[in-house]
Amino acid sequence: MNENSHLLPFSKNACDVYHRQRRYYSYLPSCRITITILCICFFLVLTNKHFQGIQSTTTIPIISSSSTLDYNNENKYIHSGSVFLDTQNKPINAHGGGFLFYNNTYYWYGEIKVGETYLPISNEEWGGTRVDLTGISCYSSTDLLHWRYNGNVLPAVTNDTEHDLYIDKVAERPKVVYNEQTNKFVMWLHIDSMDYKRARSGVAISDRPEGPFTYRHSFRPNNQMARDLTIFVDDDTRAYLFYSSEDNAAIHVSELSDDYLSTKGNYSRIFVGRYMEAPTVFKKDGAYYFIGSGCTAWKPNAARSAVSYKSIFGPWKELGNPARGLDANTTFHSQSTYVLPVVGDSSSERFIFIADIWNEMNLSDSRYVWLLISFEEERPTIHWHDEWSPS
Ligand code: GAL
Repeated sequence: MNENSHLLPFSKNACDVYHRQRRYYSYLPSCRITITILCICFFLVLTNKHFQGIQSTTTIPIISSSSTLDYNNENKYIHSGSVFLDTQNKPINAHGGGFLFYNNTYYWYGEIKVGETYLPISNEEWGGTRVDLTGISCYSSTDLLHWRYNGNVLPAVTNDTEHDLYIDKVAERPKVVYNEQTNKFVMWLHIDSMDYKRARSGVAISDRPEGPFTYRHSFRPNNQMARDLTIFVDDDTRAYLFYSSEDNAAIHVSELSDDYLSTKGNYSRIFVGRYMEAPTVFKKDGAYYFIGSGCTAWKPNAARSAVSYKSIFGPWKELGNPARGLDANTTFHSQSTYVLPVVGDSSSERFIFIADIWNEMNLSDSRYVWLLISFEEERPTIHWHDEWSPS
């Protein structure tokens, strides 16, 4: 029996009928439970602070609907699971994020999750809650700690129901790359219908990293379904689109055209039958590394990792779950979105694993996990740290 057969709860194609109706969660019956859980969380936070001296550094990320639980310590440290604040003290709203390093500045692009979380009837079978599409945010920073908000750089469309960016559509996991030949910034993102049946890649373009971006179009690369994606730019400036395809059963690696605006046509199928999504790719000492997730919608699962020594197209060798310690089996309650290479003071390259802690009942309160990747021989590993400094 295939190892993945138990993962089939995820099927974004499961429903045959497309319903525009919404089903709101009934919050009232769960109100008392929520208050009780919040009280317990608050108590745990206090106790955890009190006993920090004698506890190991591994704790469970606390999810709370209160944005007062920020532990930014004037933004000197990264605290995974807490509310990350921007330079205006507002929660950073950039989920499924992608990062660009350009002109000594880091840019963070992500899904803006605001408004009511609801479950469309078409998604009931697999729990695909959503908020209406608002757009893609952009933040910038020179130290990875202080993030300035540059605005909604690809806003949703409100007056054309057929548009890919109409508020009832899906625009997820934006990744931005700079093209040296054209001097343009190109954004790739997962474009879909509310029921995730269209499964396409979208492209937007800008003259500046801070946007705004102009939306061009969406398509199915190589006529294949395309959902969760990432872009990797190699040392020779060739770029590659990694996307969950074949109804998520396989990942495809597709080379981008020289202007990064389309796919060239050559691609390989990797991790066939392994049902992976949330792909991230990075390169270390000439080897390509992959970290992704299994397919359980917003619910976290054990991350997957892999290495390819010869070529970005493969062969890829799976290396198992890179997360270690308590809550490794849910990747610390998170799902990968990007691996950011950083050259710090030590001048040796470090890699930050960046992931989303999705709050499927209240998507606007989803949080972030940022942890350093270490290596056990060829294996990337990720350990939980309550706080750490990127400098
Ligand atoms: C996840 C995917 C997210 C989002 C979500 C919707 O599996 O990684 O990007 O599409 O499903 O439920």
